[in-house]
This record gives sequence, structure tokens and C-alpha cells, in this order.
Amino acid sequence: MPSFHTSPGTRDILPPQANRWRAFVAVFADVVETAGYDHVIPPMFEDIGVFLRVGESTEIVTKEMYDFEDKGGRHVALRPEQTASVCRAFVEHRPATPWKVWYSGPNFRYEKPQLGRYRQFDQVGIEVLGVVDPHLDVEVIALASEFYARLGLRHVRLAINSLGDDGDRDRYVVALREHFTARLGELSDESRATLERNPLRVLDSKRSQDADVVAAAPSMRDFLGADAAAHFAAVQDGLRLAGIEFVVDDRLVRGLDYYRRTTFEFTAGSLDAAHTAIGGGGRYDGLVEQLGGPATPGIGFALGLDRTLLACDAEGVFAPRSSRVDVFVVDTTGGAHAADLCAQLRRRGVRTDRAWDARSMKAQMKAADRSGAQLVAIVGDDEVAAATVLLRTMDDGSQRTVPRTAVVDDVLAVLGH
Ligand code: HAM
Repeated sequence: MPSFHTSPGTRDILPPQANRWRAFVAVFADVVETAGYDHVIPPMFEDIGVFLRVGESTEIVTKEMYDFEDKGGRHVALRPEQTASVCRAFVEHRPATPWKVWYSGPNFRYEKPQLGRYRQFDQVGIEVLGVVDPHLDVEVIALASEFYARLGLRHVRLAINSLGDDGDRDRYVVALREHFTARLGELSDESRATLERNPLRVLDSKRSQDADVVAAAPSMRDFLGADAAAHFAAVQDGLRLAGIEFVVDDRLVRGLDYYRRTTFEFTAGSLDAAHTAIGGGGRYDGLVEQLGGPATPGIGFALGLDRTLLACDAEGVFAPRSSRVDVFVVDTTGGAHAADLCAQLRRRGVRTDRAWDARSMKAQMKAADRSGAQLVAIVGDDEVAAATVLLRTMDDGSQRTVPRTAVVDDVLAVLGH
């Protein structure tokens, strides 16, 4: 018989990790819903054209997309991220602005798998459409910071930059191309290839051969127009007022093409270089237009769930928790009483489990022990005859006999429900 394993870059998220994932999304939802963001669920695949807009000169689009022709001959792609889908949804449904939404779920990129880099990975994120106000940039960044704090993370660094408006960015790209072309011989082969496609991405090179040329490259700061510069200054003032620490990194260009003005990235000080970026985002004024909508500014971020949890592990916070039951029912009379008792307790919200297969008392008690339940409700022949249940407190091993009709209320009282 063949035996199957998960595909490279994908994983089974088993208990108790899977509980932790759900708790992660619940904390995120709480933080952003408190700030007025609504939940949105875009599809996991759509017309590839939607994603081509996020950057035809980026690797995410040119090399890493999971795209295929479906049985109806449509060229579709698994989403590599969700910002483009949210903007497409905005154009399709035209909700009132400001449209403030949050999302969570898997994304797909055909990357080289390694720790912290997967082909299927989860993100949580927010997007806001229809607001130019720099105070919103501050709110968006502050929400990510608040979320990290709620997880208990303390070693998260924030870097921000501005990529200016369309014209500013274009002039900067020309200047960068000139700079790198003049020193082409010093660049690595990879950077020479990147330069052809997108000079901005050369700034992202971590290869030591490129370090000097990258360090000497012109800075975006000198190309910002008056509006973009004022916007960036206001964002920095707002962050200071909010008490959020940051550094300005004029080499921060991000991996997608749609960014204008504010961009930002969060890195975990506790992780190794390969996967320190635990979240990022920025403004993408212009993307909605490219998707066929009216001129609409946008800003948002996405945080990598997998990597953020690695950072949590490294800092020893937000530990996974097993979903323990409160009560375990042991029934040595065949199992029908266990079924009845479980149903009654569960109906009242008590987390209850039981043993199966009419096992021996000893085997059932072992299972009760493994379950982590605080209370064990034991039903044997004597209890059935007397219409009682034996309640055992696992902590101290004490036992008492309770009338069958009073057992649910008794359990609720002990658990403090
Ligand atoms: P991104 O920087 O491509 O931005 O991804 C955001 C985060 O997702 C990264 O910081 C990282 O934590 C995580 N991530 C990305 N690729 C992988 C991977 N292969 N394995 C594990 N984690 C990964 C975006 O996706 C934009 N949509 C963010 C945004 C929203 N900008 C504006 N709005």
C-alpha cells in the first residue's frame, strides 16, 4: 500500500498547536473588532489577473504563484496574499467607505520551504479603503503593536519608510537604476537579474557581495514630493505621540509592487535572520483603480501566523493549551449511563468525555487520568441500583456519593459554573 506524506512546504497542524492557532485568531479578532473592523472572507482562489496587479515584477507573482487552468478553462491562482482580493471585493460590491475589514486564513507561495517559510502559510490582517488621513496609518500600525503585546511578545521591532507617490517612486527607480547600472560589475548575478526587473528589490539584497553598492545607493527620502513628505512626517509624529517605538529604514521596500507612501515591517528580535519578518504592510493608494475601481486610497497589514508563533516560542509566551475536559465519565455497566450523563452535562456547557468499548474499571480510570479532567463521575452496578453517581475529585482523590438527579448541579457548583 502506498503511504502518503504532506507535500513540501505544507504541514498538519495537530493538537495542541491547532488550538493555539484558533486562540491566535481569536485574540486578533478581539483587538481589531474593538477598533471597528469587520470580518471578511475572500475566496482562496480567483482569476489570476487579480494577483498580477500586486506586482508583475515581483517574485511572488512571477515565480511563486500556484496557478492553473480549471476545468472550465479559466486561468486561476491560489491567493498568494489577501490584499488584492479585498480590493477586488471592494470594487465588486462597492461598500461605503471607510471600509475597515479584517481577515485570516491560508495563502500559497511556491517558495523554498524552510523553518518559518512554507508554501501554505496563514496570515491575519486588516485593510482600510477610502481614507488618506495619516492618523489612520498610525492606527493601523498601533493595532499590530497592540496585538503583539496581547500575545505577550516584547521583542518586536518596527521599521517604517515612505515610498512616496507615483511620480516620486518612478523618479527614485530611475535614480536607482542609474546607480546600480554604473556599478554593475560589483553586483551579484542575482542582483543583476533583479535589476532588470525591479531596481527597488535590489535594495532588499542580503548578499554580502552587494552590501557596499546597496549602502551607497540613493535614498528614497530625497525623492519624496511635498505631499508624501508631509504625510510621512505626520505618521512619525503620530507614532511618537502613541508611544510606539520605530526606526526609519529607507531601504525598506517590501516584496509587493503596490505600495505607495507609508510602508512598515515588524521583525522579531528573537528569531534568526531567515524568517525574522513576522508582519508587514503599508499604503497601496492606486491598487483599487488598477482593479477597475474608482480612485480609492488603501492601507493595511498582514501578520504571518506561523512565524509569529515561532517568535512566541522563542520568547516563551502564548503557549499552546490542550483542550482539557472538566469531567470524565466512567461507566462499568455497559456504557448507556455514560451516554446519558455526558449528554446532560454537555447540554449545560460542561466539557465532558467518556471511555468506550466497555473497558475495565482500571482502563477507564487510566483514560480519566489522561484526560486531565478535574472530576470523574463513576457509575457501577451499586450506583445504578441506588440511583447515585460516585464523584471523584482527581486533585486529592476524595470521593462522595451524589444522587443521580442532583449530579449535574453538583458538578456545576464544584466547577464554579
Ligand atoms: P508580506 O510581507 O508578503 O505582505 O507577508 C506578510 C507576512 O506574512 C510576512 O511578514 C510573513 O510573516 C508572512 N509570510 C509571508 N510569506 C510567508 C511564507 N512563505 N511562510 C510563512 N510566512 C510567510 C503581504 O502579504 C501583504 N498582503 C501585506 C499587506 C496587507 N499590505 C497591505 N495590506
